[in-house]
Amino acid sequence: MDPRPTPVPASIERSGVPHHVAIVMDGNGRWAQRRGLPRTEGHGAGEEALLDATYGALAVGVRALTVYAFSTENWRRPVDEVRYLMNFNRGILERHRDGLNDDGVRITFSGRRDWRVPKRVLKSMDDAAELTRRNRVMTLNIAFNYGGRAEIVDAVARLVADGVSANKVDEKAIRSRLYHPELPDPDLVVRTSGEYRISNFLLWEMAYSELVFTDVLWPDFRREDLYRAIEEYQSRERRFGGVDQ
Ligand code: IPE
Ligand code: IPE
Ligand code: MG
Repeated sequence: MDPRPTPVPASIERSGVPHHVAIVMDGNGRWAQRRGLPRTEGHGAGEEALLDATYGALAVGVRALTVYAFSTENWRRPVDEVRYLMNFNRGILERHRDGLNDDGVRITFSGRRDWRVPKRVLKSMDDAAELTRRNRVMTLNIAFNYGGRAEIVDAVARLVADGVSANKVDEKAIRSRLYHPELPDPDLVVRTSGEYRISNFLLWEMAYSELVFTDVLWPDFRREDLYRAIEEYQSRERRFGGVDQ
């Protein structure tokens, strides 16, 4: 159940809500540092932001929300922080999977299941995905141990393993081997914390996404910030390489 039911602003055009929103949840470390707290406290404070953004997305009618939780490059961080993030993400799933399931949210994952991800984390991912796999109201896709380049490498490896000949390699052949070919490309990608970069997120999928950057640090992010990003998205003119008719 939505812990903070909040009206959707009338300024959002309901017929033009992005189907798929993707968020780079950044700025946890700086949020903590500004308070004289260890970085991990910032990650912990991001839980409420994630829940609120998820319920905000549900309320406005977004069909898929992909959130960047841990990148293939985040293993470079101090071991204690990596360990914290592993347990924290497991905890989030265990704390919220039943509530999200009750609200019709399907939980999926994008990323590599490699040896570095602890077994207990993989188990909680599998449990959450299995519990919620029939839900259709919204997909919450968690990018975990995710890298955009790794995803393309994995798709190409599958292409080769499937014995696809060179003259059959086209965009459809690659796209269908990405982690979630059933999800449409994100219409809107939001990054928090005032950083203007992609950091290896959804490289293939964001070819024509609208990008919105906000200075809000992730732990302070709430559905109102998501709604502002959607309003900004709705003010944009998407051309996909064509011209206005
Ligand atoms: C984002 O916050 C969370 C992860 C990358 C896991 P950061 O931890 O990157 O926070 P900053 O960018 O250092 O402030
Ligand atoms: C991107 O943020 C990854 C996640 C939010 C999980 P980073 O904080 O890791 O990205 P850089 O290092 O600033 O590019
Ligand atoms: Mg960061």
